[in-house]
Amino acid sequence: MTQGLKNGNVLPMDSFALVIFGATGNLAQKYLLQVLYDMAEKGLLPEKMSIIGVARKVMNNDDFKKYVHEVLHRRNLHHTHPIKEEVFEDLAKRLHYIDGHLDNPEFYKRLNDFLNKLTKSGNNCDNRIYYLATYPDLYSHVFENLNSQKMNKQTNGFVRLMIEKPIGTNLQSARALNNLLLKYFSEDQIYRLDHYLGKETIQNILTFRFSNDIFEPMINKDYIDHIQITASEDFGIGSRGGYYDAVGALKDVGQNHQLQMLAFATMDCPVEFSSKAVTTQRLKILQSLQPLAQKTVFGQYEDYRLEKNVDPKSEIETFYAIKTYIKSERFKNVPIYIRAGKKLKQTVTEISIVFKNPPSRLFHGLTSGDEPNVLIYRIQPNEGIVLKIVTKKPGHKLELEDEYMQFCYKLDPHSHYIPDPYERLLTDTIRGDKTFFNTAEEVEAQWSFIDPLIKDKPKAHSYKQGSWGPKEADELIEADGRKWLEPSMDFCRI
Ligand code: BG6
Repeated sequence: MTQGLKNGNVLPMDSFALVIFGATGNLAQKYLLQVLYDMAEKGLLPEKMSIIGVARKVMNNDDFKKYVHEVLHRRNLHHTHPIKEEVFEDLAKRLHYIDGHLDNPEFYKRLNDFLNKLTKSGNNCDNRIYYLATYPDLYSHVFENLNSQKMNKQTNGFVRLMIEKPIGTNLQSARALNNLLLKYFSEDQIYRLDHYLGKETIQNILTFRFSNDIFEPMINKDYIDHIQITASEDFGIGSRGGYYDAVGALKDVGQNHQLQMLAFATMDCPVEFSSKAVTTQRLKILQSLQPLAQKTVFGQYEDYRLEKNVDPKSEIETFYAIKTYIKSERFKNVPIYIRAGKKLKQTVTEISIVFKNPPSRLFHGLTSGDEPNVLIYRIQPNEGIVLKIVTKKPGHKLELEDEYMQFCYKLDPHSHYIPDPYERLLTDTIRGDKTFFNTAEEVEAQWSFIDPLIKDKPKAHSYKQGSWGPKEADELIEADGRKWLEPSMDFCRI
């Protein structure tokens, strides 16, 4: 039976089981449980849907419900609205828990029996989504054991696997993981998740570009001087030292989020709005990126080595700045500068398309307002799409000033509801829509670009907390006669 849901969303199946491997881990605590709560609040969870938490910790169902309740009440920057008890009760009736070790085959038999029992009792668990919110070194055990129990087979319903970035730690390991996945699952069952693709502000780039004919003809080498992509955070690694110190900034957010941002901003128009057509265009960009190891700068914030679970001699980067080009006629010789880091001056994520300054500008030479136009996709905060323009400062004198033409989510007169990226991507998985998930080829193209940048990894330069990173990052762009743009907080404010 098809279940109609509120907010105009219709899921194709009446119900399903969501199995969260790693239900007591960081990802579940920070994002997944909150999103499930939100979906319950909005009536987006089918009536007989079951959520099965899986982790090593020995707990019964009641303990698990208490744990989820406690997690939902924790202070969480991603989830600030109050928890309503009646919504929690609605969520809690779907919650189940099974403890077990993911490398133990016996556990999967128990899990399968449990799911089958739930199905018999009227909660359809023949449709299954397995969410891997666990350590990558356990993945192979999960795949192999699901396979031995035939839990990967789509006999009576759909079986889908959600797997988070990073997929692998380099091209070789990503290929190995993709091959392993394809040994046990078909590509249509695999949902490789990069939560940036679930962000409303990223998805809107496609609508903006391909539904408004004014700008698109200018997105090329004739009009664009260069592109900048910034993902800066004013906070550090927090309690994630164990993970972060082995990975570093470039693999944490560069290999995935930032390259995808670039792909959305520069890809050609897909022939249609379908998963295949959209991913094909993203892939073309990713495959045409030019790795320039000598134009890569790494940084590490002062006192990073004192962070919890970090090697006191760690050389890992908490900042990077890179320069690249897209090898295509459209973007020939258009430099792209990408930077990201922790403990920087501001928390801001944006793509800036900096246009050329035409020599014929009538008011060229005045002391103010002679800056180029910049199209800014502001992913967060002050979300929006804005165009930096030059205007006449009102008054008797001829003075120019920079202003913004803006589309802002916060000033949305319709008060549209913006789903959390995880909510969006979980809903897409339920619907079987893979448009905003990565294919194996995309992930591998991303690594093909990143690997050469870290082959002979240069030293990470120390930088002051609260700065914009090491001076070497400034030198990288200044060598081309350009500057990093200071992200503005003057637009899209309430
Ligand atoms: C995660 C990284 O993938 O993305 C984090 O592991 C980073 O280090 C985060 O902070 C940024 O995501 P968002 O949605 O907060 O911009």
